[in-house]
Amino acid sequence: MSLFKEIDYGTPAAPATGTETVTLNIDGQDVTVPKGTSIMRAAQMVGTTIPKLCATDSLEAFGSCRLCLVEIDGRRGTPASCTTPAEEGLIVHTENDKLNKLRKGVMELYISDHPLDCLTCSANGDCELQDMAGAVGLRDVRYGYAGANHLDAPTDTSNPYFQFEASKCIVCSRCVRACEEVQGTFALTISGKGFESKVSAGVEEDFMNSECVSCGACVQACPTATLMEKSVAEIGTPEHSVETTCAYCGVGCTFNAEMKGDQVVRMVPSKSGKANDGHSCVKGRFAFGYSTHKDRILKPMLREKTSDPWREVEWEEAISYTAKRFMDIQEQYGRKSIGGITSSRTTNEEVYVVQKMIRAAFRNNNVDTCARVCHSPTGYGLNQTFGTSAGTQDFASVDETDLMLLIGANPTDAHPVFASRMKRRLREGAEIIVCDPRRIDMVETPHVKASIHLPLLPGSNVALINAFAHTIVTEDLADWDYVSERCDKESFDEWLAFIKDPKNAPEAVAHLLGGDAELVREAARRFAKAPRGSIYYGLGVTEHSQGSTMVMGMANLAMLTGNIGMNGAGVNPLRGQNNVQGSCDMGSFPHEFPGYRHVSRDDVRKQFSDAWGVEQDAEPGYRIPNMFDAAIKGDYKGMFVQGEDIAQSDPDTRHVEAALENLDCLVVQDLFLNETAKFAHIFLPGTSFLEKDGTFTNAERRLGRVRPAMASKIGKHEWEVAMEISQAMGYPMHYNSSSEIMDEIAALTPIFSGVSFERLDNEGSMQWPVNDAAPNGTPIMHIDTFVRGKGNFKITEFVPTEEKVTKKFPLILTTGRILSQYNVGAQTRRTENNQWFPKDILEIHEEDAVDRNVKDGDLIKIISRKGETTMHALVSERMQPGVVYTTFHNPLSGANVVTTEFSDWATNCPEYKVTAVQVGVTDSMSEWQMQYLAYNEDRCKLAEPEEADEEVTH
Ligand code: SF4
Ligand code: SF4
Ligand code: SF4
Ligand code: FES
Repeated sequence: MSLFKEIDYGTPAAPATGTETVTLNIDGQDVTVPKGTSIMRAAQMVGTTIPKLCATDSLEAFGSCRLCLVEIDGRRGTPASCTTPAEEGLIVHTENDKLNKLRKGVMELYISDHPLDCLTCSANGDCELQDMAGAVGLRDVRYGYAGANHLDAPTDTSNPYFQFEASKCIVCSRCVRACEEVQGTFALTISGKGFESKVSAGVEEDFMNSECVSCGACVQACPTATLMEKSVAEIGTPEHSVETTCAYCGVGCTFNAEMKGDQVVRMVPSKSGKANDGHSCVKGRFAFGYSTHKDRILKPMLREKTSDPWREVEWEEAISYTAKRFMDIQEQYGRKSIGGITSSRTTNEEVYVVQKMIRAAFRNNNVDTCARVCHSPTGYGLNQTFGTSAGTQDFASVDETDLMLLIGANPTDAHPVFASRMKRRLREGAEIIVCDPRRIDMVETPHVKASIHLPLLPGSNVALINAFAHTIVTEDLADWDYVSERCDKESFDEWLAFIKDPKNAPEAVAHLLGGDAELVREAARRFAKAPRGSIYYGLGVTEHSQGSTMVMGMANLAMLTGNIGMNGAGVNPLRGQNNVQGSCDMGSFPHEFPGYRHVSRDDVRKQFSDAWGVEQDAEPGYRIPNMFDAAIKGDYKGMFVQGEDIAQSDPDTRHVEAALENLDCLVVQDLFLNETAKFAHIFLPGTSFLEKDGTFTNAERRLGRVRPAMASKIGKHEWEVAMEISQAMGYPMHYNSSSEIMDEIAALTPIFSGVSFERLDNEGSMQWPVNDAAPNGTPIMHIDTFVRGKGNFKITEFVPTEEKVTKKFPLILTTGRILSQYNVGAQTRRTENNQWFPKDILEIHEEDAVDRNVKDGDLIKIISRKGETTMHALVSERMQPGVVYTTFHNPLSGANVVTTEFSDWATNCPEYKVTAVQVGVTDSMSEWQMQYLAYNEDRCKLAEPEEADEEVTH
């Protein structure tokens, strides 16, 4: 294994839109490149590396260091190759005595103000300044070190992950430009002039207290050791690397895990990563420490009762015990009395094996996944309207959009790398309209300003989308040609009559949408008139009682305006977890086999029955909420939960806890003893993404390879566990590798028929469908025709939620995520990310705070009709009066103790986003929180190791 270093071409590729090329001659070699390519890049394309310092191919050329000088026949002077475009017929010389002398002079100046501690420097061997000194043959510095210099400039170590050693800075401004161009945060500036110029994070602030969001783009761009990962300083430079996929959000960034032995030194985002183009966020780049955290459980554990201490056992015992418990339950209570939940954090192959275990070894369809509680309405809504349960575009599509309609998503926190791409497009001149109860960052931050923000009340999405469509139809702004060519006439005519009804007019619902009907109309007009309008949305759309209705409403809007089937348009779900798309694709729903085929279809059932050798059930199994209800009723007795902390993440915690408490056998497979494990009888350890071999599927349907950077810490692949339980239950399942599992998936699932590890390894990630009709995958769907044929308009009647604000519960609580934490926090809370956000807080508008005498930092109780919890308050301008907000990253916060049982009418996706609550100052924890602390004491005990019986010698 070797350390993979991507070639740096010095300047970005010319825009892909142009087709014109130019041919020039560089050092005697002809090279043909796209018009707009720099001479520096053209030279690198034929293997000639021109010395450079201020240039790198992730940033626009800047032309400040003057190291990349070249000579061009017929032109005066020595132009910088990074800023000079290649032109037809140029004859370029990159090396001669004159150029070398000039470059040496430049390097002398740099080195005369640079510490000469190369041997002990953390970047030794990985420093472009050092490389350039060698490249130009610098042997001597004439100026000495006696004059004014920056050698004692202070080092900023405030950021937990990287340091800023100012004495080593050459003021090339690559970091500043990376923060602007790649990340779009504009946290850094070059302050001062001439000799005084230096890099600053804000006005005399350290990195930790600045606007910096710790994405690491500046660290990656820095050519010296000035900005450097602390892990490199501590462990040393990496020796080899493994390309893999991030285990956090649905963007699915590709990284090179740079390793020393089996220790990760740093994660470097891959420029060839098709979802991230070399960028990352703080989670993917830095928050990998959880995978080797001391809290990880590496041996299986059993206990008879949840009050017993856990007892470590060998795998053989754990597997046979699990199988026996499940079989005993089925014997006593019937075949359908057990089931399981697959994980969106495991690979497609691992998910596939778990759902197969349930369908073939448990012999029922009681399988569900966490998408139930996040994007199940996306699957339903897009399938109903377009014919496929997935987003329509690739991420790159946003580069061509003219207007983004962002609804119920907060990408700068939840999908940061895609947010950077959106911000770049906004800087290029596109427009954004934000529909969100809060003033999220995309409404207004430096260099981002939404043209319209509609601060709708949580629960009003469908009223909003109907008002948009009503305006477009009644003001004759629809793309009638598109509709008549591409959409089903009968469904459209019926929908048209519905949408024209004045009850859908902005004026009729403006009180729910921020109060300004004309603004709603203006937003709708802008969307309709934009040449290319795209819709991006998140859980603020789906986690509602009308989540599926809203997804269909957005699909209607996109069809009405002709915004499906081309770049820059589409209906784009920003999916939460790394493999939530994949877990749905792999047949994790109780009504669908892999590839979204209903279990009632005879042909599909026969296919799986024949392939698996077990007659498949035509009746859908339990959804997660049905599992809980059946457990409380006593009909559902055994459950396998993989990589999902339902006791923390699912709504109405006390109901979930009552259900789990009622199970005869709960098996939890996870990295850590999570909240759900407090109710478990069997704990099976799992593997982190750094140990996995398989694929994740991101929000753009992209299958990316996950490759093991280190050996499994549990002694097995995670898929082997479900396979062995199946075998122990009498079902003969056998695989030798995850590649074999993918081969079976491809053989049985038409949308994956062209996928194999071999192809992914050779050709890179691919977007499904990958099959005979689309051998190289499908970046944009529904181009000439919808998957279902004609686009299907659906009636989207606005039905207000049953969760009403009352005098007793006058505020609406809505929930979401924060950048530094992820989901239930199991991973990020075990990293330094905690420094930014150690606990959940309740954001409240000043008016509501004043009414209740709440001040910043006060402990407050939050009461709903479901329960009560406490957390600290933050009075926030982001909120509107009447709405409060929190996250659910910390179990003690108990955010889901107060959320309700209401859910989406079609899919049972919980209505997390609307809970009527009252808040007020308190001085003590809630009853549930006290119980939580007691459970931490009572239910997580490990048995004392038995003392060895010493042999006595006489
Ligand atoms: S910190 Fe690094 S990238 Fe930034 S100006 Fe200094 S040397 Fe250049
Ligand atoms: S880490 Fe990211 S946000 Fe922070 S200064 Fe560097 S580029 Fe900007
Ligand atoms: S944006 Fe998402 S996938 Fe990319 S590094 Fe961050 S958490 Fe990972
Ligand atoms: S690399 Fe061209 S001027 Fe610095």
